[in-house]
Amino acid sequence: MIIHPQIQGCVARNCHPLGCRAAVQQQIASVRAAGPFNGPKRVLVLGASSGFGLASRIALTFGAGADTLGVSFERGPSDKGLGSAGWYNNIWFRQAAEQAGRIAINLIGDAFSDTLRQQAIETIRQQLGQVDLVIYSLASGIRVLPDGTQVRSVLKTTGQPFSGWGLDLERDTLVQQSLATATPEEIRDTVTVMGGEDWQLWLQALQQADCLATGAQTVAYSYIGPESTYPLYRDGTIGYAKEHLHATAETINLQLAHIGGHAWVSVCKALVTKASAYIPVLPVYLGLLMGVMKERGVHEGCIEQMQRLFAAKMYGPQGVVADGNRLIRMDDHELDPAVQAAVSALWPKVTPDNFHVLGDFAGLRRDFMQLNGFELPGVDYGAPVDVSSLTELVP
Ligand code: NAD
Ligand code: NA
Repeated sequence: MIIHPQIQGCVARNCHPLGCRAAVQQQIASVRAAGPFNGPKRVLVLGASSGFGLASRIALTFGAGADTLGVSFERGPSDKGLGSAGWYNNIWFRQAAEQAGRIAINLIGDAFSDTLRQQAIETIRQQLGQVDLVIYSLASGIRVLPDGTQVRSVLKTTGQPFSGWGLDLERDTLVQQSLATATPEEIRDTVTVMGGEDWQLWLQALQQADCLATGAQTVAYSYIGPESTYPLYRDGTIGYAKEHLHATAETINLQLAHIGGHAWVSVCKALVTKASAYIPVLPVYLGLLMGVMKERGVHEGCIEQMQRLFAAKMYGPQGVVADGNRLIRMDDHELDPAVQAAVSALWPKVTPDNFHVLGDFAGLRRDFMQLNGFELPGVDYGAPVDVSSLTELVP
């Protein structure tokens, strides 16, 4: 079977499993090139199969020799298709980690459920003993609460409705997009799905089960962004959820004091991931930002950002480098006033005719395709993929 990309709007409907392997290998090579650092040895990654979670796992395993348990929600092969990119990322990551002599265990299921929490606790007890670090990197549009209630998050703004050019990855063009004003219920529901409640449930359960080592740390990923994006993000429903996440870091930090542990939030830069491509209008900011940051030589992809987080800002010579609000600022280069001035000068000029000239939308598009295993160097996309051998692989 020859696999061609199927992109619908800003969502990829399929993946190229062998391209996913090349993408995982590319990230591993990047971490190896950056050199080793002294990091945590046993790590639980919630949301381990793509984006920041996968990059974290790769940085810690191949940079610091960590054994990892990764939790994710992914689809394997079925009559509906070959399965999701994250499914294959889990497989290729585990194979590479084991080749390097590391433990890598994948749990596939709903991280919001108590069942999965118990499964993770059992796995940690049996295979890792305890963990030194818990990474919280879930991005989801839905959460089923422990009592069975389904809650959905929305991507809306809170002040005035907001509209502007958004990116249509399928047609490689700009389209008008708008964010409606959220109701109080929609804000509350988004906080329930993407806020800190579930993060706290995880840390509580792990601590009660004695799965956290003395001095264990936890970090969750957040975004704030520049003022120009506040209507899209910080003052949007998702921003309220992140505010809740930040507040939860304080609560968890207090709870971890008993074992000498700490909770942090890493405020990351805007990057192309499955989750961010889905936010209205934001990808246009992202394409302009990528152009400006590359021009100034300060661009980072997911893997560079996560490698720097652990090697320099969490486990470097100075220990954790955070501000007074427990926030580790990985968005320092993005928020550099010179970078923002350049982006702000370009943004009002953007039209469907000139966006490729004004920003690095080709780079953004390639990153998006590569998340799904397409457009990677060294992969023969004209060659048929042996589907039966892929269906035998397990995460
Ligand atoms: P992503 O979509 O690439 O990854 C999300 C992960 O969560 C996947 O591994 C997926 O399998 C897992 N997941 C989703 N629902 C699940 C469930 N019910 N059970 C188990 N696993 C589940 O997204 P990402 O961009 O890497 O986002 C991770 C975090 O980083 C989010 O909190 C996001 O807000 C934050 N962040 C992203 C950016 C960005 O620009 N992409 C910037 C700053 C912060
Ligand atoms: Na992730």
